[in-house]
Amino acid sequence: MYICLCRAVTESEVRSVVAEGASDTEQVVARCGAGTGCGGCRNALREVLASCGIAVEPCPLGPGAAPCGGSADGSDTMASMEGTGR
Ligand code: FES
Repeated sequence: MYICLCRAVTESEVRSVVAEGASDTEQVVARCGAGTGCGGCRNALREVLASCGIAVEPCPLGPGAAPCGGSADGSDTMASMEGTGR
C-alpha cells in the first residue's frame, strides 16, 4: 500500500529502510523520499515510523489534523519541520 503518493513510496519500502538501518526520521526520509512532496502523508508516515520503534514527534496540530504542507521542490522535509513548532 502506498503511503506517499508524491514519491510513490509504499509502507513496505519505509519498513525496509528501517530494517536496513535507518534509525531516525531524517534517515528514512533521505533514503526513500517519503514526505518530501505535498506533505499529505506525513501523519501516516509518523504512524508507520512509530510502529517501527522510531521516535517521532507527534503532529503539532494533533491527531486528525489536516496534513502539514510541503514545498514543491521537496526541500521542506518532514525532518526539517520537526522542532519548528509548525
Ligand atoms: S503524499 Fe507524501 S509527500 Fe505527498
